[in-house]
Formats: sequence, C-alpha cells, structure tokens
Amino acid sequence: MSIIYDSNDSVFYLHTPKTSYVMGIYCEKYLLHLYYGKKIDKFPKVSEHLPVAEQLAFSPTDIDKTGACTNLLPMEYPCYGSADFRTPAFHAEYENGSAVTKLEYSGYEIIKGKKPLCGLPATYVEASDEADTLLITLCDKLTGLEIVLSYTAFNTIDAIAKSVTVKNKGKEKINIKSVLSSTTYLFDKDYDFVHLEGAWARERNIQKRPLMNGIMAVGSKRVSSSHNHSPFLALARTYATESQGDVYGFSLVYSGNHIEQTEVNSVDVTRVNIGINPFGFNWLLEPLEEFQAPEVVLTYSDEGFGKMSRIYHKLYRTRLVRGRYRDIERPVLINNWEATYFDFNEEKILNIAKKAKSVGVELMVLDDGWFGKRNSDNCSLGDWVVDRNKLPDGTESLAQKITDMGMKFGLWFEPEMISEDSELYRHHPDWCIHVEGRPRTPSRNQLVLDLSRQEVCDYIVEAVTSVLKSAPISYVKWDYNRNISEIGSASLSCQRQQELPHRYILGLYNVLERLTSAFPEILFEGCSGGGGRFDAGMLYYYPQYWTSDNTDAIERLYIQHGTSMVMPSSTMGAHISAVPNHQVGRTTPLKMRGDVAMAGQLGYELDLNTLTDEEIETVRQQIILYKEIRETVHKGDMYRLKSPFDGMNTAWEYAYKNTVVLMYFTMFARCQMGKVCVKLCGLDENTQYIEKNSRRKYSGNYLMNVGLYFDSSKEFHSEILIFDKVLS
Ligand code: GLA
Repeated sequence: MSIIYDSNDSVFYLHTPKTSYVMGIYCEKYLLHLYYGKKIDKFPKVSEHLPVAEQLAFSPTDIDKTGACTNLLPMEYPCYGSADFRTPAFHAEYENGSAVTKLEYSGYEIIKGKKPLCGLPATYVEASDEADTLLITLCDKLTGLEIVLSYTAFNTIDAIAKSVTVKNKGKEKINIKSVLSSTTYLFDKDYDFVHLEGAWARERNIQKRPLMNGIMAVGSKRVSSSHNHSPFLALARTYATESQGDVYGFSLVYSGNHIEQTEVNSVDVTRVNIGINPFGFNWLLEPLEEFQAPEVVLTYSDEGFGKMSRIYHKLYRTRLVRGRYRDIERPVLINNWEATYFDFNEEKILNIAKKAKSVGVELMVLDDGWFGKRNSDNCSLGDWVVDRNKLPDGTESLAQKITDMGMKFGLWFEPEMISEDSELYRHHPDWCIHVEGRPRTPSRNQLVLDLSRQEVCDYIVEAVTSVLKSAPISYVKWDYNRNISEIGSASLSCQRQQELPHRYILGLYNVLERLTSAFPEILFEGCSGGGGRFDAGMLYYYPQYWTSDNTDAIERLYIQHGTSMVMPSSTMGAHISAVPNHQVGRTTPLKMRGDVAMAGQLGYELDLNTLTDEEIETVRQQIILYKEIRETVHKGDMYRLKSPFDGMNTAWEYAYKNTVVLMYFTMFARCQMGKVCVKLCGLDENTQYIEKNSRRKYSGNYLMNVGLYFDSSKEFHSEILIFDKVLS
C-alpha cells in the first residue's frame, strides 16, 4: 500500500517508488502540507515542522496555544476568508453576499486504483494495483460546502495525480469564483521558476527566472491552453541541470484557461498554486450539485530536468494516451498543406500520394480546402460537405483510390469553428460565441462555435461522423485556429455567462470522447495553428499533436526540445518540408530536416514530385532508417544531452531495451571552435555497445565518461548513430 495514515500523529504519507508526499492534520481541523520530495520514512510531529514566526501582529490566529500564525500555515487547500492572506485555492460567494469560507478536515478514505474524472481527461490505471488513491474531505460547516481532495500515488512511476471535487451539500447556491486543483509548498525560495513560453510557430521555449518574494505567474485567458504558456511549471534548484538537482514538475491536464502561480511570503516559504485560471471564471453550484476541477500531475526529481521529463514521458505515453494507437507504431504520413495550400484537385493529390507511396509513405492526409467552397481561409468552416469542384467524385472516391494504392487516407477538420460565409452561419447565426449587440471579432476570418450548447456539440459530432462513415478514412487532423474573444453564449443565463470558458472545454471534451470512442480505428492528431493547445488534456483524446506550423529544422530543434520537457516524442508530429522553408526562409539540407523529424512522428509536408532522383533516394533511406529507430525513439528514455537554448549544438539520446539512438545537430557553424564532445547517459557501465555503421565497439563507461566527438565546423550538420548492446 503506497498510502498510509498514521493516526497517532495524524499524518498522511503517499509514497511512489522514490518520492513521498506528506500532509498532517493540525489542531484537529487544518489539513497542512508538510513535505514533498525524496522518499522518507517517518515525519516528526506536525507542530515541529511549522514555519512558526513570532510576528503575529496584524495576522489574526485562532490557534493561540501553539502560537502558529494562520497566515504562515502551509494550508493544503487554502480558502478565502480566514486569516490566510495569500492567494487561495478556493474562493466562493454565498447567497448572503459573504465570500468567507472556513474549510476544516472532516475525514478520509483510501481506495485501490484510480477513478476517472467526470467529464475531464486524466491519467488512468489499467489494474487496481497500479496505484492507490487517498480522498480527503474538508467541510465548511456553516454552508454545507464539501471539498474532496483526491491524491493518486502511482506504484511504479514517481508521479502524484491530484484533483478536487466541490460538493454543495447545503441548501443555498454557491457561486464559485476560484477552484484550483493543487496547492503545495516549498519551504524556501532558492528555486528557479521554469516555464514554457511561446507564440505561433515558436512554441514552448524554455524560460527560467529566480523565484522572488510576492507573486509570479504564467497562464492563459484565451479559453485555450495556448501557444503562449503551456499549463506546466517546474520549480528547480538554481543549480539544477539536466542530470542533477531537485526539480518539481506541475503539469495540468486541461486545455482551457489555466494558471501556474508561486507566492513567496515574508518568511520565504513558497506556495505553488495550479489550476483553472480564476480570471473570467465563475460557476454557480446549486444544492446537491458537484464541480470537478481538472487533474494536476506532480513529479519530483532529484536528478534534474531530465528525470522529471522521463517520468512525464512514461506516464503520459502509457497512462494518459489511450486507444489502439497508444502502443502500436503509427503510419509515416504525407500532408498536402504546404505542397498545395488551397489549390488542389483529385489529380494533384493522387500524384502526391503515388510518389509518396513509392518511397514508403503509408498515409496520405488531405488538409484544409476540401469542403464547402473553400479556396481561401475566408469561408465554409462548418459546412463539412465535399467541394465537388475540386473533388468531383467526392472524398469517398479519393479515399478509395488511395486505399487501392495500398495507402491509408486521412482528412483535416476544424470542427469547432464557423465562417460567417457558410451555410451553417446563415442558418444559425447565434451558434457562435458572441455577446448580443457587440461586434463579433473574427480571427483568420472565422468565429468559434459555442460548445457550451448541446445542440452545437451534437451538430459537430453528426457532421464529422457522416464524413468519417462515408469513406475509408483512417486519420483525422483536428485543427483549432483562433482564440476566443467576446465571450458570451446565447443559451446561458446571465448568472452563468462566466461559466462559458470552462463549459466550452467540457463541451469539447465531450465531443472528442464521443467521436474517438465511435471511431477507435481512426488515428486522431491534434493541431491548433501547429502546437497551440498541445497540452496533457488533449493527449487523452489524440495520441499525437502537430507540434508546430514551423517546420524549419533549426527552429524545430528549439520547439521539440522545449516540448520534450513534458511531452513524449511519440506525441510530437514532425514533418519534413520544402526549402527555402515557408516560415523562416531558411534552406537546410534534406538530411538534417529528416534527422530532426525522426525525433517525433515522421511525416512529409511537401510534394515529393518536386525532388531530384538523388533526393528521392535520400527520402527512401530516411523512411527505412526511421522505421528502424522509431520504437527506440518513441518508447525509450530520452536524455537531452545538449540544448539548443545553450549553444550552437543539440544532442538527444533515446535508450530502449538493447538499443540506443543518438542524434547530434550542429545548428550554426563557427570557425576554430574545436569539436563538440557529447557524453551519453543512462547506459550500462560494463556493457559493450556496437555502433551500427562503423561497427566500432565502446563500453558504456567510455560513452558516458569520455564521450564522442562531433564536427561543429559545418553548418546544419546532423548525425544519427545507433548503438546495440553486445549481448554475451
Ligand atoms: C493550421 C494548421 C496547418 C494547416 C492549416 C490549414 O494553420 O496548423 O497545419 O492545417 O491550419 O488551414
């Protein structure tokens, strides 16, 4: 049992293989956070661990006997209204206008396994002995409010999954203004605040800054987890590296507005708050109703960022991603977007497919422009009926012809959107998100459907279902190309208008659940102008995500490196596109573009008919190499050996079973800089490894301590080396 309650000391212990999370009940009423970190056995009395300070002035307290000041207590689930003046996890208004809540410990339960979250994505178990779950109930006696805190400790993975359920057991309505998913504490402030910042085509750059007293936060108010700030935060010792030092990770399994916040108080204790962004949030909870807040997955690593990422990779690859594509190899695809944009017909697509098939590509994806009268991005979203001018015999015939060639066929959709110039908008102008009497601001010429409405969700499911049923379609690219403004719903009451951001995400999850379970054979790939909304919530529905619209090899090194902080390589769509690159105009060699793309789910985003015979041979070889290494890359332990954010080179290693794949890239050459030494990680010291091309043998000890040297004098140089263990 990985969860223990010590009733003598009133302390809860959650143990994973190498970590412990500890909470205690203080003065029989306050649930306090005591510890999270390296595994420990026993904790001293709760009161011995409190950051008790003498300065009680201006800090009311109801715990006079110990002198503990409420404002300093590490409240496990702090609420607004007591003498804790830091940012609360819970804030609500009651019918009498009061916003005061007093949560007190009321009981606990330990269950085997882990239950799904109602309506929300979450990590799961396949057998009840994979994890244990602790449920702690806090109550506000006056109002009848009950809050259940859920903690799952995984038995073989060093992760703790937390979530929160609010239950209105009183007789009055409760207006929830903030309900975060996790509060924890670090008992000093010598950490860096590390997050993933970005923009369209420049997703997930790693940023670091020292924790400071007061509040620091990142988040999103776009009703999408967004390109700009991933729902993720790491707090790392200032000296932490890829392989050393304490790093705490917090990853929110949610795709809407989010916040990751630290608050360092006057005695340098750090409160860490994660959850739905309270900005623009409101939820009216009627008596007997419940509200489920999303899950946060916490990790602790005593071996730097690398180990933190490997924990997330394993958990998310095996116990967040679902469906038949979780474990099987996925097809190498070709997508026509950058090859044709909107200008295609059946013949062009068949030509692209034919050439691709001849070099080993397995799936042809028809991107935007196949429906309505969509020859540019200014119309037809919502009208999911084939454009017979482009495809006179329909997608059915095209899909059949491609299937007959021995390839699979896939289709692009953007089902959450509506163009003003569409049949759907002409029939249902109130189906988009808008505020009556205000202009509806378009973005990429489109508006967003109101997924808080059941009939709108039903329409999406029916429209997509009818296309998917009409033809042999085995892949869907689900796009989402704008963020939401003028938030308002024609169907919600005035009191519930601010519920729209969360209701939208619930509607989206419901639509995705219905479609992915109705079509379990179809591979779904998520997309939002590339890697916007590439978050853990989405991975529950799509096993892979289009990492970025930026396909330049150099830019992709930054993007994929940052993405790998949380996301496994098996989830990253990565394509080889034409040069000069359409986003940044850079020309990189086909080899380098291929080597970078092989660190994800490989695809092509160009017309292979435009390549020379020599280049076509390179492509053929790329696909052969990719098929040889993909299991290691997708399922292996990833080590980020050199970071593009730190210099001119990047190196990634993947180790799985008896094989190791090493990828090396020189981004920009500089003269007379010498060679670059790359030391491998995670090998068996005393085992011999043979490098496939040179047939040279090296000991694990040599590769890890002496390392290999790479040429840094050639611009855009890349190498992929495969090592096999020599088994005696
Ligand atoms: C988004 C996607 C692209 C492509 C276009 C089509 O920008 O990220 O890959 O599908 O939409 O309009």
